[in-house]
Order: sequence, then structure tokens, then C-alpha cells
Amino acid sequence: MTETASFVYRFEKAGKVDAPPLLLLHGTGGDENDLLQLGAMISPGSALLSPRGRVLEHGMPRFFRRLAEGVFDEQDVRKRALELGAFVEDAGRRHGIAAPVAVGFSNGANIAAALVLMKPEVLAGAVLLRAMVPLSDPPKAKLDGKPVLILSGQADPIVPASNAARLSAMLADAGAKVTLTTLPAGHQLSQADVDLARDWIASVDAQVA
Ligand code: MLT
Repeated sequence: MTETASFVYRFEKAGKVDAPPLLLLHGTGGDENDLLQLGAMISPGSALLSPRGRVLEHGMPRFFRRLAEGVFDEQDVRKRALELGAFVEDAGRRHGIAAPVAVGFSNGANIAAALVLMKPEVLAGAVLLRAMVPLSDPPKAKLDGKPVLILSGQADPIVPASNAARLSAMLADAGAKVTLTTLPAGHQLSQADVDLARDWIASVDAQVA
């Protein structure tokens, strides 16, 4: 059993009853405020659940420990993904929201990918912005058509396009319905990310509704 760890978080109530709740997961050095605006742009009216990562790297919040840039402490990734999953379930009950769609950027996208692989029932889907493979040997997940959008940057100095492609294949092999798009961008987000994420969430939501 995973104890429910306490996260500092922000919660914004839904403005529209039928908008899918979002779980917002910031990048290294961010916090619970970072992605609120992005969430409102890509899915207007959605409830927003936005925790702050509990790991500190030189004072910068993250969602799990790493040994170097792009080299993860995988034992910690596993532990933190389960911890985050327990928080999401708990907060969902507390605030009366359904399983959210995760929207993660960079380190937040990597923990979202780990959560999809380790505790898929917690999420309705995931938007992974500049994500990479979080676990070299993930548990055998059954993702049963879970929708996942991966937006990677062609010129990303942190995430090689081949790594995003491996993540896409890993999730698809486990049964996820993955859309991978590589943008003419670096690690930072661009307007194209916002537009594609918004259209994808609207299309996924229309299929579920
Ligand atoms: C990570 O540590 O999750 C990745 O290297 C991305 C980052 O946070 O820079």
C-alpha cells in the first residue's frame, strides 16, 4: 500500500460540467501555479488539479530524483509515480472529479508517463509535452486504448527525438492509443503545442462523451 503523501497543490473548480478534469504537472523548477494558464487555454472550463513536485534539486521542485540530466533514479520514479497516483485518487474524491487527463511538461511529462505505465486507472489520458522514457523496464501495463498525445521538439537538446519515439512505442505496445507529433521546436513550448493539445483534448473528449 502507498501512503498518501501530502502535496502542495492548487485546485480550480470546473467552469463547465462536461469539460474533462486536468492534472497539471510542471517541469523542473516550476510549481503548482505554472501550468494553470496552459490548462485553461487547452481545455477551457476544465477543473484543474495542479500539485507541486515533492523532490527538491538544488531548491528546484521536481516529481522524482535524477542522477544527471536525462538519467533517472528509477527506483525513485516508481515510488513517486505511485505516490502521485494515490494523491490524484484522493484529491479526486475530495473535490468530486473523475479521473483526469494528465498534462505534463518535461519532468512533469516524465512522471505522467510513469504514472500511465504504473497505475493507468488513475488517468483518463495524457498529454506529454517533451517527454522521454521514464523507466527502462516498466511493469506490463494494460492500457486498453488509453489516449496519449506526445508532442516532442525536433531540436530538443534534452530529449532526443528517438527517445520520444521509444516512449511512443512503449505506450502503444502496452495498448495505448498514441499520437506522436514532432514539432519544429526545442525543449520550450510553442503556440503549436497549445493548438495541438487543445484540438486533441477536444477530440478525445468528444469520443468519450
Ligand atoms: C527530467 O529530469 O525529468 C528530464 O531531464 C527533464 C527535465 O526535467 O529537465
